[in-house]
Order: sequence, then structure tokens, then C-alpha cells
Amino acid sequence: MASEQTPLIPNDADDRKQPVRSRGIREVGLFIWALLATAGVIVLAVYLQHENQISHGHDSPAPKRNLVFMVSDGMGPASLSLTRSFRQHIEGLPVGDTLTLDKHFWGTSRTRSSSSLVTDSAAGATAFACGKKSYNGAISVLPNYQPCGTVMEAAKKAGYMTGLVATTLVTDATPATFASHVLLRQMEDQIAMQEVGEGVLGRSVDLILGGGRCSFLPNSTEGSCRGDDVDVTKIAQEKHGWSYTDNRAGFDAFKHGEKVDLPALGLFAATDIPFELDRRNMSDTYPSLSEMATTALRALEKATAKSDKGFFIMIEASRIDHAGHINDPAAQVHEVLEYDKAFRAVLEFIKNTDTETVLVATSDHETGGLATAIQEPGHLPVYNWYPQALAQSSASCEYLSARLSKHIASDPSALTSKDKLKSWIDAELVKSGLGIKDATDAELDLVVENPEAATQLLAAMISLRAHIGWSTHGHTAVDVNIYSSGGHGTDKLRGNVENTDVGAFLREYLDVDVEAVTKELRDKMTTADLGAPMDMDNYPLSVITDTK
Ligand SMILES: *[C@@H]1O[C@H](CO)[C@@H](O)[C@H](O)[C@H]1NC(C)=O
Ligand SMILES: *[C@@H]1O[C@H](CO)[C@@H](O)[C@H](O)[C@H]1NC(C)=O
Ligand SMILES: [Zn+2]
Repeated sequence: MASEQTPLIPNDADDRKQPVRSRGIREVGLFIWALLATAGVIVLAVYLQHENQISHGHDSPAPKRNLVFMVSDGMGPASLSLTRSFRQHIEGLPVGDTLTLDKHFWGTSRTRSSSSLVTDSAAGATAFACGKKSYNGAISVLPNYQPCGTVMEAAKKAGYMTGLVATTLVTDATPATFASHVLLRQMEDQIAMQEVGEGVLGRSVDLILGGGRCSFLPNSTEGSCRGDDVDVTKIAQEKHGWSYTDNRAGFDAFKHGEKVDLPALGLFAATDIPFELDRRNMSDTYPSLSEMATTALRALEKATAKSDKGFFIMIEASRIDHAGHINDPAAQVHEVLEYDKAFRAVLEFIKNTDTETVLVATSDHETGGLATAIQEPGHLPVYNWYPQALAQSSASCEYLSARLSKHIASDPSALTSKDKLKSWIDAELVKSGLGIKDATDAELDLVVENPEAATQLLAAMISLRAHIGWSTHGHTAVDVNIYSSGGHGTDKLRGNVENTDVGAFLREYLDVDVEAVTKELRDKMTTADLGAPMDMDNYPLSVITDTK
């Protein structure tokens, strides 16, 4: 019966005395033991791999990783209260319903600049891009007027793919700080050139989607806002290999990011992409923030599929700030809702991608001094505000004001027949646009007498109806919120941090050498490259103000 023996069975006398049937049982037992051992090894392997992934989330980052940085320009904490209650009202949601952003609240950021307690967007974004404080108006230049390397430039050098998405001009302060260096934010002609690769570092961005076409077109072209006759779209395509589109059909041809020929420049508006409240009716012309964001994420994911490095993208909801400057609460809630949607889309991307990806989102500052309640002059305080007043608005005050300008331009006699103009304003702008049926004569007269200030006057009418208050048409110093998906290193942004800590997080997460870029910039950039026509030491900082 030697054939019944297996090397695994101890070869002792007792075993040999076992009946045949018992040996059969023992073989079944051994088979089960081997099965369990194999299963154990598999379970252990899976467990260890899982532990490994978890530790990538918290201790050491995966070798390949993506970073999504979102900026809600000008969005303070009150914007969240405003938008949350507005959405509950229009969608009939329970009082406990919150925005996606609310569910990912992470910490708060202090925002002051080196020159003021109240920052502008340029200094605010320089704190993110360079990780250093600078003066209001600075585009990745320090208070000593020396350029500072940015996280995007360092990421590009390290092999990451990079992207910028904005709903305002892509040459505006926030996107500009990641890929250009000029002394003042108003130097948008130079910013456009540097963004496409004409700076001393060459090209640092692979994908740019947004508005601001006017700074890329020569001054001989209709819709240009350049001071010179340089065609930046041509330089971008011929010298730096960009693919270029300026319209919705071109955006649709991106096929949600599946068919983007990088580097790709998409400029979908001469200046700003319209407020979401208005854009909804013009979606055949302009893509939304969330559409641009998802397209950009997929394009960069595809482009890095075979790379050992991932991507870094900055996505800005630029116009929350503009609604704040105008003091238009109806325009603002739709901007914030669209931002919330884009944030949700990024979380969805993170859930589905194979590459470790972290999302961090914050604001550069608050705009408007928004308050969700006011005490009307001559009245007692009322403990309430009225979202229904915003829900009745079908257009932004900016859009309605543009209609007024067009109306007056098409019929200059409108300004002389004031009663007729007043009826037109009441019917077309106030009743049909803002949904306000009880405008007073005094309110309407103000618009008739000051048509150039119609945007702000209409905004004041709707704010009053909603009992929404504003303290300024500029920025404030209130701390702004930080939101995150969580993940490697994000614990450093818990609690109350400085805006430069957000900048430090970006470079640390990507593990890139920003200081080396700073050194290279200082070696290669001339004063003229920074756009300095004058002696900056004598440049009066008081004239450096935020224009938006
Ligand atoms: C257009 O740019 C050229 C220089 O590039 C300049 O000479 C000319 O004055 C500009 N024209 C206008 C209308 O600004
Ligand atoms: C935009 O569309 C909405 C919904 O379809 C409509 O209520 C509103 O009047 C439209 N606004 C304009 C300015 O056409
Ligand atoms: Zn800003």
C-alpha cells in the first residue's frame, strides 16, 4: 500500500496501522488544510496591498499622483449659507440638506497680503502658486519685485501634466499667477504671452480652458483688447504647438476629454464667460465650469495614462467674485451652485480614477462683505432673509444692464423721453428680469438718471427684496473656507491656516522643487520681462488696486 503514502504524511507506525477508510478521510482533511492555507495567503496578500494603499492615503504618497486645486474666487462663508438656503427653497429640500462643499469642509484660511489686511486676487493667488505673501497686484513676484517660481512651473519640470480652467479671462490674476510673472496684474498682454510659452521657462501649461480671448488677438482684430498687434493664438500654435479653439463646437469636439490634442488652448469668450444664471440660456455658445472641469480632468488623465507622473490642475470659479463686486445675490447663488457641481464632479473623478488624487479647494478672499440679513434704515431688525426674492430673478444685473445699454444705443431718444424709458426699465428689466413687481418711483428714477450705474442699482433692488446685505463693492478680510477630499498630507490644512500654508501643501503633495524654479527665473528674467516700464522702487503701492 506504499502508493497510498504521500510525503506530507508523517511516516510513523501508527499511521500505517490506520484503516484505509481513515486514510481517505485524512486526505480530504489535508486537501481542506491546503485549501485554507492558500486562501489564507491570498487574504493576507490582499490585506497587505490594502494596507499599502491606505498608507499611501495617509503616510507616504503613491509614486504617481494627481492634484486638483479649486479656487472659488471671492467666496466667503456667508456665500455658503446663502446658497444652501436658496437651494433648499427652490428645490423644496429639508432644512438639514447641505451642499456637497458643506460635507467636505476642512478648515479656514487667513488671507491678508504683504501690503494690506485686505488682499486682492493677485496677491491671494501668489500665496497659492509661490507659497509666499506679496503685495496687492503682484503676479508671482515678491515684495522685492523678484519673480518667485510657481508650483505649476515646478510640476511641469518634474514631468507632471498641467492645466488651468477659469470662467473669467485666463489672463486674470488667479490663473495668471500659476504660469506667469509680472509686476502688476493689469499687464495682461505679457501674461498671455508667458502663458503660452514665451516666458524664460518656455511652456509650463498643457491645457487652458476659459475666457479672455481678447488678450490673445492682435489689436487689428475685432474683439481684441491687446495694446499691440501680436497674434498670441498664432504664436501659440506655430511656435509652441498648441491646438486652439475659440467656440463651443470646438469644445464639443473634445468629446468630454477623450479627444483633446495637447497642448490645448480653448478660449470660449472674448472676456468673461457669462454668469451661470445667464449662461444657462446660452449653453450652445459657452461651456459651463463643470463641463470644462470634467473635460480637463479626463484629458489630463488620458495624457498621463502611460506616464509615471500624474497631473496638476487649477480650476477656478472666477465669477463668484464678480457677483460679489456687483453685489448681485441672485447671480452669486447660481455661481456657487455651479461651483458645488464642479466640486462634486471632481470627487466623482477621484472615485473612478486608478491614480491617487487629492482635491483641495479654497478661496483667495471674500468679496462684498455679504450678510444674510439686513436691518432696513428706519425699520426694526427682522430675523429673516427671503430666498424667494432671488428665485424670481431670471437674469443677472450685469446682463440686464447690458440690455439697457443696447436699448439706449439703438434709440438715443430713449434718454430724452424719460417716462417712456422708465416704463421700459420697469417692464423689461425689473418685472420680467428681476421678478420685482413693486419697484418704487424713486428706485426707477435712479436707474433712468444713472443708466451707467444700472448694474449696481438693480442689484441693490434685488438685495433689498431678499434682505441680503453688503458692506462693500470690494473685498474683505474675513477668513475663507478650505474644502478637501482628504488624502495624503491634507491634515496640514485642518484648522485655521495661512493662505501660504495652502501653497506649501500644493508643492509638498506634488513633491516638486519650486526653489530651483525661482533661481532659474532670477537668473534669466530681466526687468523688462516682468513688465517694468518704470522704477518699481518708486512705484506708489496706493495705485495698485484690485480692478475686479
Ligand atoms: C496696435 O499695435 C501697434 C504696435 O504693435 C501700434 O503701433 C498701434 O498703435 C496699435 N493700434 C491701436 C489702435 O492700438
Ligand atoms: C432663461 O431661461 C429660463 C428658463 O428656461 C427662463 O425662465 C428665463 O426667462 C431665460 N432668461 C433669459 C434672459 O432669456
Ligand atoms: Zn479674487
